[in-house]
Amino acid sequence: MTPARALGALVLGGALCAAALGRGAAAEAPGDAVRGQQVFASRQCARCHLPRGQRGMGPALEEVRRPQGAYELTGRLWNHAPAMFTALTQEGVAWPQIGVAEMADLMAFLGADPKRDPSPDLARGQVVLVSKGCLKCHSFRKEGGRVGPDLAERRAALAPAATWGATVWAHTPRMAAAAIRLAVLYPRFSGDEMAHLLGFLRGGP
Ligand code: HEC
Ligand code: HEC
Repeated sequence: MTPARALGALVLGGALCAAALGRGAAAEAPGDAVRGQQVFASRQCARCHLPRGQRGMGPALEEVRRPQGAYELTGRLWNHAPAMFTALTQEGVAWPQIGVAEMADLMAFLGADPKRDPSPDLARGQVVLVSKGCLKCHSFRKEGGRVGPDLAERRAALAPAATWGATVWAHTPRMAAAAIRLAVLYPRFSGDEMAHLLGFLRGGP
């Protein structure tokens, strides 16, 4: 490669990188439901979540795939890490990896839309943080447990929802393992709780 072309490639790479970063930091890049269906199939989901009437190990596809908030879905993904981890370990299947763009596509396929999440209520989020027991393992602004990282220092992992979804996906098996080791209850989420918690951890919408 000539130096000029190498420079061109570098500049182009930098621009692409900046575009990707900008997209992550600002509004959610809309996912693609068709690609999301492929993610659902290739990441083992379709193995346990079958259409209603067929016997799958997990809830029917129609229950998993329904109109829902994007943070609401991250809460549901959080919930099922222990059950899925146990089942896959028994079958000798590795935990499937899901990147941020794939998570956005998966969310689109599953009917998750950030517009369905409420704008976060920070006071409720603080109550969720305490009631779910996060501080047994984490500190928040240096107050709390020391098993996991300080949550105030993990802001980049919290938003937009596809980024948080990918983080949840990657880390919940290890959190579940820590919960068993420490005999701490693994927290579960319902409804809007995750949206409020994340609003509080981010310090705003
Ligand atoms: C090995 C089987 C298995 C695989 C693979 C699997 N699931 Fe599940 N899933 C379950 C079981 C069992 C439950 C119900 C148990 C629970 O929630 O603790 C569940 C529950 C869920 C729920 C509802 C949780 C709630 O609290 O409402 C969602 C959403 C979900 N799965 C999505 C997925 C997605 C997306 C994938 C693929 C990335 C996937 N599942 C892969 C077994 C599986
Ligand atoms: C039983 C202990 C335990 C509990 C309870 C727990 N965590 Fe964690 N968490 C961990 C451990 C261990 C890690 C580090 C694991 C890793 O990164 O692989 C971690 C990592 C994280 C990360 C960092 C992920 C990243 O990539 O930066 C976030 C964010 C997080 N936890 C949020 C929470 C929230 C929110 C709650 C409460 C709803 C919670 N955790 C409850 C043990 C726990």
